[in-house]
Amino acid sequence: MTDRYVVIGNPVGHSRSPWIHAEFARATGQDIAYGRLEPALDGFDAAVDAFRAAGGRGANVTLPFKQAAFRYCATLSPRARAAEAVNTLVLEGAQTHGDNTDGVGLVRDLQTNLGCELDGCRVLLLGAGGAAQGVVQPLLDAGVATLVVVNRTAARAQALAARFPRITGGGYDLLDGAAFDLVVNATAAGLVGALPPVPASAFAPDALAYDMVYGRDTPFLAFARERGVRASDGAGMLVEQAAESFFIWRGVRPPTAAVLNALRRG
Ligand code: ATR
Repeated sequence: MTDRYVVIGNPVGHSRSPWIHAEFARATGQDIAYGRLEPALDGFDAAVDAFRAAGGRGANVTLPFKQAAFRYCATLSPRARAAEAVNTLVLEGAQTHGDNTDGVGLVRDLQTNLGCELDGCRVLLLGAGGAAQGVVQPLLDAGVATLVVVNRTAARAQALAARFPRITGGGYDLLDGAAFDLVVNATAAGLVGALPPVPASAFAPDALAYDMVYGRDTPFLAFARERGVRASDGAGMLVEQAAESFFIWRGVRPPTAAVLNALRRG
């Protein structure tokens, strides 16, 4: 029987995950079906229960349910614990295991697709919400030299920094002319066409500017490019986190380059 998977979000109609996983399945010869599930905002647990009862084997979880998924799981991977959020559910009988592949997806895109050397890298993370929280531990594990988190609401960045060793957090005024090799925009500013108040001095020569948002040219990416800084959207992170989820479910690592190229072409 074909194993069934879904992406769960609200809204979820725009999600490219069904297409990405169908491409992975084709490339690896895996017999899976991958659809979409859009529960009401208070309906996450019931939707997963029903999907499991209907034979569902796993799910990706996107906004706004990653924290609900974290609470739902009986067991959690260390990286889901660090993120306090789950984007990958493994459904086995009555049990649910939760993992988080977002951070490893970012790290793999940076290292493999963009040739960014994270070992010894000075990293600035913009934002302190769920998206930022999900990538802190994987960036630390990749050996970054410094990690500074700044946020519009300074207290949120301070609270995030306090949870991890070796990172500093505060408001944008904390930057005070400091330069970074990698600036990652994990704010939701781009989704409303806004620019986080990052100073041009934050970009070291040869820096990379990375926006976790994909499929649109955000003001942050435009700001970086106008200053001669190399800029990338989050399409590669999307594909790489999907590949890691696919590997968790199927035990097979799908090739990602062709899928990423096709996604970029639209
Ligand atoms: P997510 O799970 O996507 O991270 P979130 O938890 O709502 O969503 O967090 C959104 C992040 O984007 C926050 O860091 C937010 O800053 P605040 O904590 O001060 O709200 C940040 N953000 C949203 N709009 C922004 C803007 N226009 N400029 C700067 N930061 C912004």
